[in-house]
Amino acid sequence: MVLVRHHYQLSGSSILSTAIAIIGTGYVGLTTGACLAHLGHKVVCADIDPEKIAKLQSGVIPIIELGLTELVNEGMSAGRLSFVVGSVEAAKSCDIAFLCVPTPQGEDGSADLSYVQQAAEEIAAVLPFEAIVVNKSTVPVGSTKVVERALKRPDVKVVSNPEFLREGSAVQDFLKPDRVVVGSDDQAAAMKVASLYDGLSTRVIITDPASAETIKYAANAFLATKLSFVNAVAAICEGVGADINDVVVGMGSDKRIGENFLRPGPGWGGSCFPKDSRALIKIAEDANYSFDLLKGVITVNDQQFERVVQKVVQAVGGETTEKTIAVWGLTFKAGTDDLRDSPSIEIIKRLLALGSKVQAFDPTVTNSKPGVPEQLNLSLSPIEVTVGADVLLVLTEWDDFKWISPTTIATTMNGKQIVDARNLLNRKDWEQVGFTYQGIGR
Ligand SMILES: NC(=O)c1ccc[n+]([C@@H]2O[C@H](COP(=O)([O-])OP(=O)(O)OC[C@H]3O[C@@H](n4cnc5c(N)ncnc54)[C@H](O)[C@@H]3O)[C@@H](O)[C@H]2O)c1
Repeated sequence: MVLVRHHYQLSGSSILSTAIAIIGTGYVGLTTGACLAHLGHKVVCADIDPEKIAKLQSGVIPIIELGLTELVNEGMSAGRLSFVVGSVEAAKSCDIAFLCVPTPQGEDGSADLSYVQQAAEEIAAVLPFEAIVVNKSTVPVGSTKVVERALKRPDVKVVSNPEFLREGSAVQDFLKPDRVVVGSDDQAAAMKVASLYDGLSTRVIITDPASAETIKYAANAFLATKLSFVNAVAAICEGVGADINDVVVGMGSDKRIGENFLRPGPGWGGSCFPKDSRALIKIAEDANYSFDLLKGVITVNDQQFERVVQKVVQAVGGETTEKTIAVWGLTFKAGTDDLRDSPSIEIIKRLLALGSKVQAFDPTVTNSKPGVPEQLNLSLSPIEVTVGADVLLVLTEWDDFKWISPTTIATTMNGKQIVDARNLLNRKDWEQVGFTYQGIGR
């Protein structure tokens, strides 16, 4: 049964304050904790990383996310938000514990539930009587039962409440969601979790755990499909002399299609789509269905990385060895500092493997950090990075890149080649000062 409820209360007017423990204070956990505190709940965020917690306790936010610093400060000053090391400390006096721990890709493509199981085992003994545990991590169908088994606490109900926020606009997405999904076999527990969001005006969909878990994977897989689809159409545009920018406006104006998520690019990535699409293929396999459509979506994405690499190869006349490529953008999208499964990193690795020298600038990556290839030279300015380069390759759609003067870059670079994998720059402006411009699908 799917029950749809609408709430029309003002933000911040939550009726009942609930004691909440957040287990895992990363992109999802920190946003969830800060936003629930904003809605009036009393929140304790826990993490196993003492460095992260020390930073948060002193008001330093370890990730880049618009509006998050303000919300964390607000919650801490109001005494509604605090940070502790270890899940036990947070869970021992909560009404509801949210599991926001990683679910990375396992060896066979399925989601690795070991962090979820571990967190549930840790808090099992200290959870107050009749507390509720919420799976906010993205977990495959059946994970509610996995958590129940790890908890071994018949009085504790487990509820699925998948998260749909996007990095870069996480706070906005949490406070103005398109919907809230709650999955449980226990109506009272589902209602209690749904009531946490009473301060938001949104649609709350209450369903069974399997449907809630499927909604999350299906939504991500569909978005990935849209992106692969538009990248495939972009490839056709290049072959037939059409302009993908006009094609997507024409397609997206159809309300059945919509303009969102129809922008061509270097391929999709990030911490969710790659692992979640592979996990859904595995879920389908276990349900005796071969999800060929989604397999194709992943193949098209891999081809897109290669198409960008080949544009660079073409720009340097076929010989990449010892050629210098300047890259603008390392994160998987603008507005975040997250490098996990970034298409930019994948494309850079392929260029390095072809013998190119690659130097890169990203406004959020000033020092080498996990995921950055060792041979990659990092630069501190978008202009400095272009010095002596044969090709400028735009891989992340940071707005600032749009306003850099082509005339300046014409004096710093060795060659006059641009590969704009985001169709971000104004083509005419660059061509006017002598650059050869290759975009995507144009
Ligand atoms: N990042 C996103 O955009 C996004 C969006 C929707 C859903 N999700 C899902 O949410 C989940 C979390 O993702 P994330 O991006 O926030 O991950 P993350 O890696 O940023 O954060 C996870 C945190 O959990 C901590 N942790 C691990 N085990 C712990 C334990 N036993 N006790 C306390 N803390 C522990 C880690 O130290 C880390 O800080 C994943 O399942 C992901 O698929 C992510």
